[in-house]
Order: sequence, then structure tokens, then C-alpha cells
Amino acid sequence: MSPLPPLSNRAVKRLGFPPPHAYAPPPGPFHDPELYPDSCINLSIAENSLLSPRLIEHFSRPITTLRTQHLRYRATLIKSTLPTVEDLLPQYINDHIHPRVPVTRDNSVAGPGIGAVLAQAVWALAGEGEGVLMSAPFYDDYVRDIMHPALAVLMLAEIPADVDSLSTDALPYLERKILESERLGIKIRVMLIPNPHNPIPQIVPSETIKGYALLAQKYNIHLIVDEVYGLSTYRDSAYPPAANEPFESVLTYDLAAMGVDPERVHVLTSPTKDFGASGLKLGLFISPANPQLINLIRPLFLATPISSVSDLLFARVLQDRPFVERFLEDNRRMVKEAYEFAAGWLTFHGLEFTRANAGVYVVVDFAPFLDRIAPAHLAPLERLDIAVAAIIREGVFIKPTNLMADPVQTRFRLIFTQARPIMIQALRRLEKAFKVPEAPLDETLPEIDVDVESYSDVDSEESSGVSASATAYTSDSESSVDSGERGRSLVKKSVVVPVNELAAAVEANAVL
Ligand SMILES: Cc1ncc(COP(=O)(O)O)c(C=O)c1O
Repeated sequence: MSPLPPLSNRAVKRLGFPPPHAYAPPPGPFHDPELYPDSCINLSIAENSLLSPRLIEHFSRPITTLRTQHLRYRATLIKSTLPTVEDLLPQYINDHIHPRVPVTRDNSVAGPGIGAVLAQAVWALAGEGEGVLMSAPFYDDYVRDIMHPALAVLMLAEIPADVDSLSTDALPYLERKILESERLGIKIRVMLIPNPHNPIPQIVPSETIKGYALLAQKYNIHLIVDEVYGLSTYRDSAYPPAANEPFESVLTYDLAAMGVDPERVHVLTSPTKDFGASGLKLGLFISPANPQLINLIRPLFLATPISSVSDLLFARVLQDRPFVERFLEDNRRMVKEAYEFAAGWLTFHGLEFTRANAGVYVVVDFAPFLDRIAPAHLAPLERLDIAVAAIIREGVFIKPTNLMADPVQTRFRLIFTQARPIMIQALRRLEKAFKVPEAPLDETLPEIDVDVESYSDVDSEESSGVSASATAYTSDSESSVDSGERGRSLVKKSVVVPVNELAAAVEANAVL
């Protein structure tokens, strides 16, 4: 047999990466109330199921806007006047974030998810072996996108446990890390921060974000703020954090007046967290003052664009502005209630947790629970292994935040946005795993109004297609044809295609 064909130097360097996950989920499918009722409930991924029935109802309506352009390459679809997320996402951000410079198709790039978009942005901004700086604890999936394809490296500013890593007190640690990295020969090219944060479920104070921007300016670094949870905020819960400021996008700041070049500040965003639909893979990179960067990144998605199927379904949602507004409002309320439900359980058991005003998770210190099942003389990691094994045995999957460089060695991130009956089951299983008595839980289920026709612009019987509100969202700078009129006339001629037939058509196209 001839020797295996060689790999590239880059690929050889990547062999062994990513390392096997320290806390792998158990084999077999995750829990589903109908398909796998006895399987492990996954509370480790930042997913939000609270309003899924409502979104599925919207997606399930007859589709009248499927056109041949949806079966073509994206270059064809986005040059049509059909409504696409390419136009609708910028407007969604403008409506809800109110940036100083309106987001447009020209100063933003849409791609298949935030991770994908971040990876290309890092590729454009940081060379091989150059640094992307974050504070710890950090959202660990960023490592994937920092490393590939850019081969850049994550540099972490470790913040002591008694310092709030989201406050301005963290800034000197970041500055020290910039200087220390430079001494090691690693040039920091990008600073990255999610706001609201992950895994700390809080809106980052505006003074901190401004501090990041000023540091970026001082050391000639780019700043990327991931604002994916910007509309999933709830400041009025029964368990608010001490710093409970409203969310302000970095896009609303007068950066030039602060002495910061606007060209170095960029935003990642997406509606998929707000809608509990991360699997649709939609992401937007916004850089209002750096057209050169936008033009560099845009073609990088030609081979891996957003799927037309995601586009078709989600463009229809975004066009339905009354539905969007109601969904966002209800989502905020439901997430807040789900947080309060989890917080009540944690409080009953005397477990410390980070107070939340955004996101779908809390970081919980399980130290008192660990004491019940893991001998105190063991090393912290061994104790965590015992706890993870016990939790998995009882049918729940959550991960310790030591994976996220959390200085506290007894904490886990707990996602609380599963449907209430599943959440109750998961909490009961956790009590069993740690051999603690059951907390009293209010088992009344929150009501979800799935029948949303009263405020939806899309008729559930037979869609009127591109609605009047859609024309407001749809603007095609490359077309001289009035997009609203074109949109409406296309719809009149369109055929109703049920979702299952749409899937079959797409599959057939894929085979060709
Ligand atoms: C802060 C943050 N950014 C990005 C992502 C990933 O986004 P996407 O699924 O669009 O790649 C997540 C997912 O949990 C997240 O929490």
C-alpha cells in the first residue's frame, strides 16, 4: 500500500484539535417527551424552547413565496426582489437597536450563523499565531471560530474570582494581558466580548464596553461585540443583578467623539437566539465604518451561504412585523419567568448563582451539593467528574464552567429555557443525583398563545405572501423595479407549497 497522501502544514498543526471534550454527553439521543422520554435532558446548550410551538405554527403555514430563485445559488436569490434575510436582518436591527448609522446590506454581511461569521472576521483581522483577547470566564465555543480557519489564538485575561469580570475593574487585567502577550511575541489583533454576556447572564455595563473600545484604540486593536442576546433581556425579574443597566448596542455610541476610530468596532448579531431557532443558522456581521472589511468578508460566504430554506422561512417571519414584536415581547416575559422558576429552585436549595438580566442560563455554584457526593479531600477536577457522572446517571447533562476558564471550580452553567414540564423533570433528576430533598415547585404551566392570527400579518389559511409590512422591509438597491410592487405581483402568481413538499423539492435539487 502506498503511504497516505500528505496533509497541509496547517492541517498537521491541527491534528489532535479539538481535543476530545472533557465532559462528553452520554451516548444516544437527548430527551424528547414523545420520542425519547427516558433519555438525558440536555441543559448544557444555550437553546430556548419556550415559544417553539408558536414559531413552528408560523413556519407550518402554506408557503406561497417559494420561487425558482430559492433553488438557485444565493447570488441569484439576493439579486431578485424577493424578500430575503439579507434585507430584512438590517432592518430588524435598526428597528430594535437604533444604531447611529443605520445598518444596511452594504455595511453588513449575512452568513450561516454567528460562529461562521466570526470565523471569517477573525480570519480577516488576525494572522496565524496572532491573538484574540477575551476576559475569563468566556464562551468556550468561540475557540473553534478563532482557531479555524485563521489559526489565531485565544488569549485570556484571567480575572480573580472576587473581581466582577464585566465591570470596569476588569479593564486593567485586559491591558496587562495585551502587554504580556506582546512580550511573548503574540500581537493582540482583536478584542472580543459578548454583550449581553455568556456565560455570565448579564448586560455588560456601557462603561465597560466603552473601556474596551478605548483599549482597542490605545493598542491599535479591533473590537468585536457579539450582541446576539441584545433583545433577550429582562431587567424586571425578582432576582436582578446589582448592576442592572439597560442594554445599549455599541452601534449607538458616538465612537469618534470618544476618540475611537469607528473603523475598528464591529458587531455580531442574529435573531436566532430571540426566536429559539439557532439551527436555522443566521448571523450578521456589521461594520458601519469599514466597507473595505465588509467587501473582504462578503465573498468568503459564496461557498457556504445561508440556506435558501432558512431564508425563505425566516424572511417570512421577519416580514410579519406584528408577529415579530409580539414574539420578542412574549419571549422576554417567558424567559424572565423561566429564570425566576429556576432561581426559586436554586434559592430553596441554598445554591449561589449569578443573577441574570439577559440570556437563557445561570452560572450555579453547586459546592454544597458536591459536598454531599464527592469527598472533600479529592482534587477539584476529580470532584467535578464525580458530580458530572452522577448527574448524567440520573438523566441530565450540564457542564462545569471550568471549561470556560471560570476561576470558581465548583460552578456549572444551567440552561433554564426548556419547556416547563421538562424543566421540572430535570430539576427533580438533579435533586436525585445529589441526594437532596425535593423543593416545592409550582407545577402550573405557563400559557403559550400559539393561535397568533389576531396579530399576525400572514394569513394561516393561505398566505397573502409579501405583506404590506414586508414591502417596508424590502429594499433592493440593485434593482430599479419597485420592490414592493414586484413582490406583490410575484406572490399573486405563486403556488402554495406545503412545508413537507418544500423539503422534498430541496432534497431533489441537492441530488441533482
Ligand atoms: C454569545 C454567543 N455567540 C454566538 C453563539 C453561536 O451562534 P450561532 O449558533 O449563530 O453560531 C452563541 C450560542 O450559544 C452564543 O451564546
